[in-house]
Amino acid sequence: MTQIGAVQSWWLGVTLQLVLAAVLLPGFTAAQTTAEPQKDPGRPEKGTYVVTNSNGTTCLMASMGLQLNVTFSSVSQNKTMQDIINLQPNVTKRSGSCGQDSASLQLSTDAEKTNLTFLFTLNTTSNKYHLSEVTLSAVLPDMKEPFLAHNSTLDYLRGTMGFSYMCREEQTLKVVQNLSINTFQLQVQPFGLSGDQFGTAEECQLDEDDMLIPIIVGAALAGLVLIVLLAYLIGRKRSHAGYQTI
Ligand SMILES: *[C@@H]1O[C@H](CO)[C@@H](O)[C@H](O)[C@H]1NC(C)=O
Ligand SMILES: *[C@@H]1O[C@H](CO)[C@@H](O)[C@H](O)[C@H]1NC(C)=O
Ligand SMILES: *[C@@H]1O[C@H](CO)[C@@H](O)[C@H](O)[C@H]1NC(C)=O
Ligand SMILES: *[C@@H]1O[C@H](CO)[C@@H](O)[C@H](O)[C@H]1NC(C)=O
Repeated sequence: MTQIGAVQSWWLGVTLQLVLAAVLLPGFTAAQTTAEPQKDPGRPEKGTYVVTNSNGTTCLMASMGLQLNVTFSSVSQNKTMQDIINLQPNVTKRSGSCGQDSASLQLSTDAEKTNLTFLFTLNTTSNKYHLSEVTLSAVLPDMKEPFLAHNSTLDYLRGTMGFSYMCREEQTLKVVQNLSINTFQLQVQPFGLSGDQFGTAEECQLDEDDMLIPIIVGAALAGLVLIVLLAYLIGRKRSHAGYQTI
């Protein structure tokens, strides 16, 4: 009987290890695959861009790393190519304006060879804002003609007046067929700022999904540990009782 008890607890020990390994290993591999492989220009540096209105108060604030993904026809290679451009905050000039229901941020780099404009729109009925328009004009080497992209029917970065929109994860904003913008560690607030501080952040779905995974794994792990522990205790009690009857 004692032998059975020992075998039982040994078996439980092995099972516990196997169960833990089975739960933990996929978690580790998942963490590995979500790690971004190093792309050519790497991650863009994060910049903070502020727009002030005529009386000097901050009316739009954005903190983000920006990467442009431009598809164009190469002159020298005579084929369609992709250019991945990281915006460097220290050489990026910023300007913009704020109105009652719209606010814009313009970023210019490289001696104004690249002009990127974001326009946010506020719905004054629902008090919700969103990124509604993006314009990019750029003169890049190896392009047949200046690159121009514009879309005024976008619906990205949706937030509530007085709150900031946040997305820590990389997010891709498709503007037109040949332009998409990758954002990194984004936090933006185009309306209802109080001073130079972001309002409470409304987190994007990508971030929420990201936080959900460790919570689910953690809960599953805790449940399993509890079950195995209970099984072990019951098993021990049984074998103990069996031992006493002899
Ligand atoms: C750039 O865009 C192309 C086409 O939409 C896509 O296949 C590629 O993965 C993108 N690259 C990056 C770094 O976002
Ligand atoms: C503003 O929001 C209201 C309520 O959600 C909606 O009915 C209206 O169509 C929106 N207006 C615009 C211009 O999108
Ligand atoms: C960017 O804007 C500036 C000022 O408005 C202008 O002089 C310049 O030509 C623009 N560059 C491009 C590539 O459109
Ligand atoms: C502008 O963006 C909207 C929403 O993403 C898209 O449906 C539309 O096709 C875009 N327009 C152009 C010209 O690509």
